[in-house]
Amino acid sequence: MAFSLAERIEKRQGEQYALYRQYLNSGLARVQAIIGFDKIYTRGEGAYLWDVKGQRYLDLLSGYSVFNLGRGHPVVKQVMQEMLAMERPNLVKMDCPLLAGLLAEELVKRMPPGLDAVFFANSGADAVDTALKFARAATRRPRMLYLDHAFHGLTLGTLSINGGPQFREGFEPLMPGFDAIEMNDLEGLERELRRGDVAAFVVEPIQGKGVYIPADGYLLEAQRLCRKYGTLFVCDEVQVGLGRTGRFLCCEHWGLEPDLVTLSKSLGGGYVPVSATLTRRSIYDKMFSRLDRCQVHSATFGENELAMAAGLAALHVLEEERLIERAATIGQKLMAGLTALQERHDLIADVRGKGLMIGIEFRPPRSLGLRAAWTAAETAQKGLFAQLVVMALMRDQQILTQVGGPGVNIIKLLPPLIIGDQEVEAIIAAFDAVMAEAAHIRGRVWGLSGQLIKHAVSQGA
Ligand SMILES: Cc1ncc(COP(=O)(O)O)c(C=O)c1O
Repeated sequence: MAFSLAERIEKRQGEQYALYRQYLNSGLARVQAIIGFDKIYTRGEGAYLWDVKGQRYLDLLSGYSVFNLGRGHPVVKQVMQEMLAMERPNLVKMDCPLLAGLLAEELVKRMPPGLDAVFFANSGADAVDTALKFARAATRRPRMLYLDHAFHGLTLGTLSINGGPQFREGFEPLMPGFDAIEMNDLEGLERELRRGDVAAFVVEPIQGKGVYIPADGYLLEAQRLCRKYGTLFVCDEVQVGLGRTGRFLCCEHWGLEPDLVTLSKSLGGGYVPVSATLTRRSIYDKMFSRLDRCQVHSATFGENELAMAAGLAALHVLEEERLIERAATIGQKLMAGLTALQERHDLIADVRGKGLMIGIEFRPPRSLGLRAAWTAAETAQKGLFAQLVVMALMRDQQILTQVGGPGVNIIKLLPPLIIGDQEVEAIIAAFDAVMAEAAHIRGRVWGLSGQLIKHAVSQGA
């Protein structure tokens, strides 16, 4: 019998949550049902998703920044189809693939000075793990430093530089000598660096969990201190790179010149997993130090041609459609509109970000009645109010957002970089409406809290 994917999907449509519960992560499926995210999506295009009932949703998650170009970008899609039609000899392994060379060349052109060598792998965590290995090989030092709240992936290597206790718990012991320091504490950093045993200091130029932005001057001075003590300075651009913050690399906002840069997510154009670790040739060659060690680090699918082609197409689209400039200007409009809401809604404590990476932080309400509800929610689970807002945005406004990290009252917006004035206006109006509802204890936002609290409490028990 012939295999038809379309037929199979049609026949089984609607079973996804049951299958997921049975064969994959049942806890995640339950949470999605509790927060009202258990939709049956049937189509994605640009900045939007559609469900089986034809309802349209504005996607401000973008697959955690995979879909910077929007879903199904026609140029990337055409390149993918072209690749399949060409029947190129993919993954020969014992050759040097042309497309890997071409993508490496394009990436190097866009890097800060000196970063002229590339290693391709499959995921953000892969890219960061690779950076850690480069740092060990190049410095022969054991330790790594990272920031509080940092997120660099969830493999054991990257978990060892994860600044969130919620992620680390249950997997310890992690790598010895990998230590967290506080953002903006230069003295603390220097104290550690002075010991002379730190291979690398790894930072996200803007932190993904919480959208925390370092004080101006901090990263530049941290980089200077790293140079002084022979420690490599790593910018993890997996989420903030490739135009998200209005620059090709986020570290450009501060004129940084890191020793290593990591990229992933939208490099695959929304189609193929891929990551890149960029560094200087002198560092690169320390890992692959002899001919018999030329494969001491590798990833089977690392240079696969579909990923390389998607990367080339993604870079082309970024430039051709001036999406980086667009992220900067549209981001400014969105930030301005959201910031203006602060005057009307006292629950909004802060709106921050760069380009189209935006965090909205909430604070306890002034009104006594609301404050009791806030306290009950926070006692059940920290960050629960932000979750209520995410749920209300989905239920009442058909907008997908996320809580900005475990236990924080922050919402993070990561829209595709293709959004325009129409989406900006829709997002601002939606937030305005949800925050207005949240000002009423008997309104639709707090009405959602009962079931969340019930589940939070039973989870904790
Ligand atoms: C800054 C950063 N580094 C690394 C990662 C890990 O990427 P992946 O999930 O592809 O392993 C992420 C994922 O969100 C990230 O935001």
